[in-house]
Amino acid sequence: MVITSISDLRELARRRVPRAIFDYADRGSYDEITIRRNREDLDAIELRQRVMVNLTELSARTTVLGEEWAMPVAIAPTGLTGLFYGNGEIHGARAAQAFGVPFCLSTMSICSLEDVRAAVKAPFWFQLYLMRDRSFNEDLIARARAAGCSALVLTLDLQVQGVRRQDAKNGLSVPPRLTLKNMLDIASKPEWALRVLFGKRRTFGNLDARMKNTGGLRTLSQWIASQFDPAVTWQDVQWVRDRWPGKLILKGILDPEDADLAARTGADAIVVSNHGGRQLDGACSTIAVLPEVVDAVSGRCEVLFDGGVRCGQDVLKALALGARACLIGKTFLYSLAAMGEAGVALALDILRKELLVSLGLTGQTDVRAVSPSILRRTGAIRFPLSLPALPAAPSATRDS
Ligand SMILES: Cc1cc2nc3c(=O)[nH]c(=O)nc-3n(C[C@H](O)[C@H](O)[C@H](O)COP(=O)(O)O)c2cc1C
Repeated sequence: MVITSISDLRELARRRVPRAIFDYADRGSYDEITIRRNREDLDAIELRQRVMVNLTELSARTTVLGEEWAMPVAIAPTGLTGLFYGNGEIHGARAAQAFGVPFCLSTMSICSLEDVRAAVKAPFWFQLYLMRDRSFNEDLIARARAAGCSALVLTLDLQVQGVRRQDAKNGLSVPPRLTLKNMLDIASKPEWALRVLFGKRRTFGNLDARMKNTGGLRTLSQWIASQFDPAVTWQDVQWVRDRWPGKLILKGILDPEDADLAARTGADAIVVSNHGGRQLDGACSTIAVLPEVVDAVSGRCEVLFDGGVRCGQDVLKALALGARACLIGKTFLYSLAAMGEAGVALALDILRKELLVSLGLTGQTDVRAVSPSILRRTGAIRFPLSLPALPAAPSATRDS
């Protein structure tokens, strides 16, 4: 199969991993309205084609949180990554390191903080969920510090879990439960099975000690419901801020008022995110709210973006609407499941090339200078007042 796009990597992933694992990445919550909106609203934005600009020097390099990145893209935290490809977190972190972009390890990863630390030189980010037992969070924060993590990403949008109907139908559990149906599926994917079987771990690497006390492994959603703290408030964000002196990123902001509250906590950055359409179904797309959030934050912290990023043009659109950089969740998992570390490297390369070509064709040469002026006004997006005025789209009736 000739791979020219993230869609190709998705298709390869679909063939290579068991159905329950693929669906876990691919599907959204409830009626999947929001997961669809993320893509539809990105697609609806039109770029302005400009010509006759010297494009010999195109640059995707940027600075985020004081660090140099090869392009404005980071790998989002994703749970169960090591079930998509044996030692998947290590493969992802290595590909990101080689490319020069950050990798974020999830609390719910298969490889532990220490496994990843031992495998890569570059510092990575660690994503934290707040559990009922705060001593466990203190422990995770201390482990992230010991591993030299360069940022802590606190996820705010999963106090309670949105129901992903397909996971329930597939009986997703960790490690995968062996039923006759999925045994046949696994038997048809021997390469995947061998890699996962001989990976460092098959259950949550960061939570091993914790899970021993929970009376054995149950479905993922049951475990989350029993361990994640539904009572957390902004005071708990402060609790984390007080314990983490490094860069703090708050992930899961989808409302300008929350963006304002987040900026007041002293966070270094926020991620405009609806968890990839996996939480509140019926919520708006992330790209639709991005300009309002950028406006509400008004420079107090950096604004990162995720949700539906599948090509370089998506990155360009998010930058034009005020994001400093994008995170990739599903794009990362598809590429990992398809081809391991080489797949992730390929996905990053595809995104970068698409970003550079599209940047040039909008008449720009440097991603750091991208502004809303590269977009045509369309109905889906409300442009914030504080961004430079845009040229009006030509009216269809003007000449009549
Ligand atoms: C399979 C999967 C697992 C995820 N696990 C986590 C997680 O453990 N922690 C977290 O903060 N976000 C998690 N997310 C959300 C991503 O970090 C990110 O917000 C989302 O995937 C972005 O949308 P995209 O998938 O369209 O790129 C997960 C997403 C997926 C697809």
